[in-house]
Amino acid sequence: MTHHAETRTVHQPAPAVGGSTPLGVPIYQSHTFAFPDTEAMAASFEGAGPPFVYARYGNPTVAAMEDAVADLEGGAGAIASASGMGAITATLWALLGTGGHVVAQDRLYGGTQALLTTLRDRWGVEVTQVDADDVAAVGAALRPDTRVLLLETIANPSGTVADLPALADLARRNGTTAIVDNTFATPLLCRPIEHGADIVVHSATKYMGGHSDTIGGVTVFADAGTLERVRARTQEFGAVMEPFAAWLISRGLSTLGVRVRRHCANALTLAERLAGHPEVTRVHYAGLPDHPGHAVARRVLDGGFGGVLAFELAGGLKAGRAFAERVRLAALAPSLGDVRTLVMHPASTSHRMLDAEGLARAGISEGLIRLSAGIEDVEDLWADLERALG
Ligand SMILES: Cc1ncc(COP(=O)(O)O)c(C=O)c1O
Repeated sequence: MTHHAETRTVHQPAPAVGGSTPLGVPIYQSHTFAFPDTEAMAASFEGAGPPFVYARYGNPTVAAMEDAVADLEGGAGAIASASGMGAITATLWALLGTGGHVVAQDRLYGGTQALLTTLRDRWGVEVTQVDADDVAAVGAALRPDTRVLLLETIANPSGTVADLPALADLARRNGTTAIVDNTFATPLLCRPIEHGADIVVHSATKYMGGHSDTIGGVTVFADAGTLERVRARTQEFGAVMEPFAAWLISRGLSTLGVRVRRHCANALTLAERLAGHPEVTRVHYAGLPDHPGHAVARRVLDGGFGGVLAFELAGGLKAGRAFAERVRLAALAPSLGDVRTLVMHPASTSHRMLDAEGLARAGISEGLIRLSAGIEDVEDLWADLERALG
């Protein structure tokens, strides 16, 4: 019998040692492996012998984490990378080469956006970006030579949720590989492969690790053939995960279920209260019934609407900056998915080089705050936010 995902995160299989089995996945902090003879080593290089030979090609601790994430996402297998960007870069590199056409949703994570610009400027890849909330616009952008459709399950900062069943169906009918960045949702809220996606990428730095203490990426494949193509590129780039990072992520996975439920509950409560606050003009969180993407989110996500929300302050730039500097319990930090609550004021930090028009194009108003809800007591969090708003 297959157990529920939350049970499987806790019971990740660890290999037996002698006559007993460790409960935690052991850390094999070794980059190389010795063989009894040249024949066994040659067989290993061929992929027909012992599975581990050199850590850039594989390591048992890393492989255990890859298997756990592939299982949670319902994929044929997974590849771990040194970071989320390592995962996305190796995957696009393997699928695109030079030339070709990509359709991507318009407001992607900044690092992914920068990568698409490089692929366009240096490698001649054509990139069409469209509003992924508009399924018909995505359909119109697909061409016979479109190799990749690139989406994020939950968009930042609008909080809209991609209509994965409809979009993956369009990609499949066009012979296009659908890649979904599932970092914000985690496999506990959404499994894009079940909705028809071909590849799922994660920044495991975020919810999977969960404690701001490691960096990593994981790519999960519906199909083993595509996995092997991407593995070859990952090994060439050398952007592989090291064993201790994999161990931290395996350990993070074992509490993912309780953390994600708490992140979602805290985010929903804060979103509801912020929506009623006089200093707040707008809240972007698909868990709110009046969010334009609420109906799609209910269909695509299962068990919550994620831990990240954004809100806009009436006082614009000055108010946004003051808020970010006044929070005490929440940390002013550029990440998400941590057990601690983190806030960002993009207009004065990550996007400070943009004027009001550039900010509007990026979907960011001057008073916008992004908040990644942690797992603290929500009353303490609300007291901190209310004081900073005051
Ligand atoms: C949605 C999303 N994808 C990918 C990345 C990149 O991940 P990493 O920082 O692990 O390279 C991030 C980082 O913030 C992200 O938010």
